[in-house]
Amino acid sequence: MKTHLSVVVLAAGLGKRMRSDLPKVLHPVAGRPLLAHVLDTARTLKPERLCVIYGHGGEAVPKTIGGADITWVKQEPQLGTGHAVLQALPHLDPEGITLVLYGDVPMTARDTLESLLGKAGPQRLALLTVDLPNPHGYGRIVRHKAGTVTAIVEEKDASAAQRKIGEVNTGIMAVPTRYLKDWLHRLENRNAQGEYYLTDVVAMAVKAKVEVATVQPAHDWETLGVNSKAQLAELERIYQRQQATRLLDAGVTLADPARLDVRGELTCGRDVFIDVGCVFEGRVNLGDAVRVGAHSVVKNALLGEGSEVLPFSLIEECETGRRCRVGPYARLRPGTRLADDVHIGNFVEVKNSQIGDKSKANHLSYVGDATVGRDVNIGAGTITC
Ligand code: UD1
Ligand code: CA
Repeated sequence: MKTHLSVVVLAAGLGKRMRSDLPKVLHPVAGRPLLAHVLDTARTLKPERLCVIYGHGGEAVPKTIGGADITWVKQEPQLGTGHAVLQALPHLDPEGITLVLYGDVPMTARDTLESLLGKAGPQRLALLTVDLPNPHGYGRIVRHKAGTVTAIVEEKDASAAQRKIGEVNTGIMAVPTRYLKDWLHRLENRNAQGEYYLTDVVAMAVKAKVEVATVQPAHDWETLGVNSKAQLAELERIYQRQQATRLLDAGVTLADPARLDVRGELTCGRDVFIDVGCVFEGRVNLGDAVRVGAHSVVKNALLGEGSEVLPFSLIEECETGRRCRVGPYARLRPGTRLADDVHIGNFVEVKNSQIGDKSKANHLSYVGDATVGRDVNIGAGTITC
């Protein structure tokens, strides 16, 4: 943990290639806005100041994200990444380090940021870099023969030789705030894009004899950003693959780790089985030996030990006891509480009802706002409301 840590998240960009009316940083990965993922990770670092630069999309961004701990700073017009961080300067703690993150790069691991911050210091700037087989479009890390970093050169400003460099700037950096304040005021925009480049602080650091260190992430995907729907979809798959790996490591059996979507927090007991095509949203807890059948959606629910969901069921804001059987084609709506050994069968909808031990509604019924005792058999075609 760093004391006097300030975090600045850049989120003012347009995201034209998303071809959407929704501001880019509000597009979801795993059901949550890109920016929310970045903020989650930032908060684990316990920064003194947390500042988000927004612009395109206007007030929709702060309105959607909220967060009492965030200082929202509007950047208008958007004159480059250096200009973006400049807007945050009055809000940064002059002591300590400023960490710059991108609102459209949602998967950077906390450990990676910790090690980046570990490298930064009062006289040291730290850059997160990656080696890419195809570095096209990125700023290149230019090093002196001895290996020390001398500058970052943007693709559009790079010489043919510099374009051959495979080590690129991810954009994420940790800079001693005192120096940052000085350097940002001195940025110029005489470059191919006419922008104020944050990356120019690297050459300034070299001039000021501030050391420039580099750190690489454990996985390249940690630094992937989103500029298009294709990249958004790609990140979603990587994210979901991580979730699946986490579940497998915890002992959950997945019929196919590539056909599972977790949009929230899924916790499982021992010997849980999940068939293909299931979606879990919000907070879901599956007890020991729970089985979830193919193509079911479970949202904010707790399924008790040994319960089984048969295919094509939708379960939302419910709790079941032990050994319940739900589905196929069942719908449990908010406020449903099943006790132990309850059976809810095909085309049965239950809303805001308590159903006692060993009771059954096996076919084609609507059970709404009901309190059903033990050992009750609700016959086909029954409606309560
Ligand atoms: C930037 C880096 C480049 C790096 C690349 C990694 C600079 C000059 N270049 O280039 O070295 O390889 O990221 O993806 O920093 N933003 C604002 N306000 C602005 C401009 C940008 O908030 O005025 C935000 C964008 O929303 C985005 C991020 O900053 O989240 C990066 O901006 P972008 O224009 O994508 O930078 P690149 O040109 O890709
Ligand atoms: Ca970019």
